[in-house]
Amino acid sequence: MTVDLEKIIKADQDHLVHPLFHPNDQKEPFVWVKGEGARLHTADGREFIDGLACLWNVTLGHGRKELTQAAVRQMEQVAFVSSYAGNTNIPAVQLAEKLSSLCYPSFNHFFFASGGGEANDSAIKTARFFWNSQGRREKVKIIGREYGYHGVTMGAMSATGLPAYWPMFGGKLPGFVHIASPYPYRFVSENGSVSQGRAAADLLEAAILQEGADTVAAFIAEPVQGAGGLIVPQDDYFPRIREICNKYDVLFIADEVITGFGRTGRWFGLEHWKVEPDMISFAKGITSGYLPLGGIGLSDRVYRALAEAPPDRRWMHAFTYSAHPTCCAVGLATLDILEREGLIEEAGRKGKKLLGGLQQLATLETVGDVRGLGLMCGVEFVEDKASKKPFPSSQKFGARVQKECYRRGLVSRIQGDIYMLAPPFVVSDADIDRSVNILGEAIPAAAK
Ligand SMILES: Cc1ncc(COP(=O)(O)O)c(C=O)c1O
Repeated sequence: MTVDLEKIIKADQDHLVHPLFHPNDQKEPFVWVKGEGARLHTADGREFIDGLACLWNVTLGHGRKELTQAAVRQMEQVAFVSSYAGNTNIPAVQLAEKLSSLCYPSFNHFFFASGGGEANDSAIKTARFFWNSQGRREKVKIIGREYGYHGVTMGAMSATGLPAYWPMFGGKLPGFVHIASPYPYRFVSENGSVSQGRAAADLLEAAILQEGADTVAAFIAEPVQGAGGLIVPQDDYFPRIREICNKYDVLFIADEVITGFGRTGRWFGLEHWKVEPDMISFAKGITSGYLPLGGIGLSDRVYRALAEAPPDRRWMHAFTYSAHPTCCAVGLATLDILEREGLIEEAGRKGKKLLGGLQQLATLETVGDVRGLGLMCGVEFVEDKASKKPFPSSQKFGARVQKECYRRGLVSRIQGDIYMLAPPFVVSDADIDRSVNILGEAIPAAAK
């Protein structure tokens, strides 16, 4: 493809508002023009390993013709139709049926949106609807966690536990509360008589009691915290969370936007701890990022509230693009490939290889922690290993490592001083080794 790169960049600066926008970041943007497998190419001829599957989503890798063809086939039939009550379309029905067979056993009903934020707002509203339909109208509060990321629509932004997302938009909405993350590397328990995981989960009980159980609708958590810094909980954390939610009649929403569809080596993240939530939100990997699709899954208990509502008190929730036939057709094709090629097992195997490689970097002076589950790993940098003292934020150590990685052909994201890796499931073993080697060179280079 021939492009006048200067012209494109000028037009970008003149006209395009980007996510997390600031013009300073658009001075020398990556202009991505091509992808193949786990590799990405820029318009100026550079090639990169796609270390985060773009935004954790391109699980099947770039350039999958089967997905293109699934979209074309559906668009040639009918690209879009309404799915509002009284209408339906075949790919959406088939996708919901397929998800029922893959998701947690009590999950048999699915609603589609266009992405993760919409999915989480849908889940939050559905939790409120659930209690409202039982006459428990005060049960509206949502408890989230520090470092949780759930998106930027108003509800999802308010559930997000990264305060940088709130203040410039009038603050988070009332009724959204946050507890500490289980964060094994940094969690300090005030209760030495129980395990760290249990102590971290017990913070939910304390928050419910503080707010009043009659006011709390739901707890929302990512099985593995992603964008907030790749935090894998202790094994006893989620089983205890489930007990607490049961005890106080609080719904448990699992935000599986990153962890759903194989990222952790299982179809869904909570399978690792044999815990079932009451609702899930999903997006990203359901179409391998090829088209925008997200949604929520409902346990049978939650679905009953929708099914049994009188028509004039129905679940008044909808998006124009809910159950978009073309997006659902690509979703079906994605799930088919995941199964046919055994890619979820591959994500588990490759994740172990990646984590093993990264653990070799733990001897470096500035590497405080290396962690991961499945094909999502994080490396946390610290100024002092013994005390776990972080670098002063003014040093921008994580950003310096990221830049050194770019120079060596690896693109991925950071959260502060945590470097995160979650490549496509089709990444080669050689590219896993190469990513580890690049990071191994970039960290000391950034420290100089
Ligand atoms: C766990 C999680 N939930 C929700 C979202 C928001 O999804 P979207 O950007 O599609 O709205 C993200 C996005 O990164 C995410 O990682």
